[in-house]
Amino acid sequence: MPALEAILLVGGQGTRLRPLTLGTPKPLLPTAGVPFLAHQLARARSYGVRRIVFATSYKASMFEPVFGDGSAFGLTLDYMTEETPLGTGGAIRNAAEALTCAPGDPVLILNGDILSGHDIGAQIRTHQRGSAAVTLHLTEVDDPSRFGCVPTDDEGRVTAFLEKTPNPVTNRINAGCYVFTRSVIDSIPQGEVVSVERQTFPGLIEAGEPVLGYADRTYWLDVGTPAAFVQGSRDLVLGRLESPALPGPTGEYLALDGARVSPEAKVHGGSTVGARAVVEAGASVTGSVLSDDCVIHAGATITDSVVGRGARVCAGAVVCDAVVGDGAVVGAGNELQAGVRVWPGIELPECAVRYSSDV
Ligand code: GDD
Ligand code: MG
Repeated sequence: MPALEAILLVGGQGTRLRPLTLGTPKPLLPTAGVPFLAHQLARARSYGVRRIVFATSYKASMFEPVFGDGSAFGLTLDYMTEETPLGTGGAIRNAAEALTCAPGDPVLILNGDILSGHDIGAQIRTHQRGSAAVTLHLTEVDDPSRFGCVPTDDEGRVTAFLEKTPNPVTNRINAGCYVFTRSVIDSIPQGEVVSVERQTFPGLIEAGEPVLGYADRTYWLDVGTPAAFVQGSRDLVLGRLESPALPGPTGEYLALDGARVSPEAKVHGGSTVGARAVVEAGASVTGSVLSDDCVIHAGATITDSVVGRGARVCAGAVVCDAVVGDGAVVGAGNELQAGVRVWPGIELPECAVRYSSDV
């Protein structure tokens, strides 16, 4: 069998992750010390993938300077850009122009915002044993209405694909990793906006094509919201999901080059302290992502939050379940909570204000 090829969907705008994604596309956000995609690339490689085509659109030119030709990752990388976003199906069809495999070969497709511990090799074997058109990785979540709801029959055959339905019929959802038979990709119309979730999958099922599910209950997370993004980073640092790309040992926190953490600060819960970032005495940082060059001053408390590049959280401020944009300043005494986002460069003056909506 020729080396396995994959397509990585990385063209989305990541709107739910604003302001983090205003300057950086979601797949490049530093996660446990490296660009998010580095974790996906390393996992794909560990299952025999050797060539990956990036399907880019939003901030397309930012990917190649980070990943280059892929040799640093033991991969060959290609970049295929849509001038205007073509949706998930259109993006796959466009990227397939760069594939070299034969019509009958399996191609792995990955959403570019998923952390998954599932056995990609077993998914491919399920696909090949069942001579499937497409085999979807399926997982279970508490709220399937935010995902693609995917019922299957007793043999594991997918019976419907219901994207973001208000009335899900099962908790089993599309986990965003597919094996396509190459010829099925070639049958997607070229140069058109197509959604695999709303058009291709329902169409294949309707036509009676074999669409299979590969269901498991291993670690799985879509990092598309700030809370999920922080959770993904902390799970990687704590070792809840093993990643060959983690740039250090697993533990309570990961400190990047030049980070300075006072011995009198408490940093734990799978936090990351970015390059040259400073955590002063008496500060407490739990389960959070501190970006490069940020400063957490004495006695500040950061919990389950992202602090952007070069941002400052002043003495005694409390940041909980919040995003502090790049270069923003949270003045002493303020309290951020409940998903509050502080836009890049905003300076909140020293004051005892409790913010629960965006600033
Ligand atoms: N190149 C390109 N062009 N990529 C795109 C485009 C596009 O027009 N639109 C979306 N993408 C990429 C995103 O960057 C992301 O990696 C992936 O496609 C999925 O898009 P999301 O915006 O993250 O979709 P979602 O999370 O709401 O839903 C999808 O993922 C769920 C699992 O996390 C769907 O596939 C659901 O069915 C699924 O359950
Ligand atoms: Mg997503």
